[in-house]
Amino acid sequence: MKIQAINGFKDILPENVLLWQHIEKKAREVFQRFGLREIRIPILEKTELFVRSIGEATDVVEKEMYTFPEAGLTMRPEATAGIMRAFIEHGLHVQQPIQRLYAIGPMFRHERPQKGRQRQFHQLDTEIIGSVDPQIDAELISMGQMLLDELGITTSLEINSIGCSQCRPPYRQKLVSFLESRHDDLCEDCKRRTYTNPLRVLDCKKSTCREIAKDAPSLLEEVCDNCKGHFNQVQASLDRMGITYTLNRFMVRGLDYYTQTTFEFLTDDLGAQSAVGAGGRYDGLIEQLGGPALPGIGFAMGMERLALLLEQQNNRPHMDSEMDLFLAALGPQSMDYCETLVHKLRKKGIRAAMDYSGRSLKAQMKQANRFKASFTLIIGDNELLEQTGIIRNMSTQEQQPIGLDTNTDQLSNVLAEIVR
Ligand code: HAM
Repeated sequence: MKIQAINGFKDILPENVLLWQHIEKKAREVFQRFGLREIRIPILEKTELFVRSIGEATDVVEKEMYTFPEAGLTMRPEATAGIMRAFIEHGLHVQQPIQRLYAIGPMFRHERPQKGRQRQFHQLDTEIIGSVDPQIDAELISMGQMLLDELGITTSLEINSIGCSQCRPPYRQKLVSFLESRHDDLCEDCKRRTYTNPLRVLDCKKSTCREIAKDAPSLLEEVCDNCKGHFNQVQASLDRMGITYTLNRFMVRGLDYYTQTTFEFLTDDLGAQSAVGAGGRYDGLIEQLGGPALPGIGFAMGMERLALLLEQQNNRPHMDSEMDLFLAALGPQSMDYCETLVHKLRKKGIRAAMDYSGRSLKAQMKQANRFKASFTLIIGDNELLEQTGIIRNMSTQEQQPIGLDTNTDQLSNVLAEIVR
């Protein structure tokens, strides 16, 4: 019996890894442009961390976590909670009042796998901690937009404000009363959510609940003056930067730590999975986790979704050659000669390869193509005797003779110059 990867956990094969590296490289470049520094946090954390930050009544904590109950440990379903834990544990705010951080890596949620939805998936996560300034919200959103633009991925941006600890409780009460009045028409999940997490009813995907949500009191209209002012300034900043967005009063987000500004980068190109990236403010979270009363805002993008969109929207980046020089050795002496040469070239930082199985020239040229080699050096035993090999430029097909010195140091220098 062959052993296969488990459902929802996928291999990323070498030809796709190039695409992933492209996304990661661009993300690092853009994040660094905004002053973000990388942080690497563990995959396994105490379960309590996620319960206290993401929230007990959320889908993630209720049904999607990979937990080892006896040890009280959970594989991270997202990165924000772990970054905040590390931030508090190491007192990062003491070093620098505003911390700009990013993390890249796998997350784990036991969801039903579909296109763009896996159980092990990867996020590019960003956080700016320590400022309540609405311009920070707009700056962070502009960073996400810039990354998507530079990757060549088209999305739409939706924003909302979900209020703060002052204005949300009275709104919540109003919403519960409204939902109770429509209780019989709600789906089974939303009947329960009315009391556990009523805001989630607003973004239920079921059509009957959607209709009901349209009549629900709007949080955006009910938020306090402070939250309104903040949100207006976020919009003014986005307008100044020329970033297009729409207001979505039904956006509530699935994690409990959010306050005020929330946003999502959306697409219609991934079937049921519309969010490519999402985030928002979490002003009470650090304090709730036992840290200083510092605000924060962040977002995460799903790398599987970015990779799918790059392929679908025909933006797969052009992949450069993967090998500088392939050495086609034809005969036992030339093989030994090439072995030394390959070793010396690699020591000079040149990507070089050869075949040891004594195959025909045709077979070796095929292999050079498979490697996407930029050049091939062809050496048979006769060429070796006559001290002249052939170097072929694989893209122009041009061939030139090249002197084969018995001193391979000399030749490796010449070859390194040619292929660099
Ligand atoms: P989230 O909305 O749960 O937010 O996830 C962010 C993104 O991760 C989603 O928009 C999606 O692209 C991707 N994603 C989530 N679940 C899956 C899955 N099962 N398969 C594939 N991709 C998935 C957070 O995780 C927050 N921590 C974001 C944040 C950072 N908020 C503040 N700071």
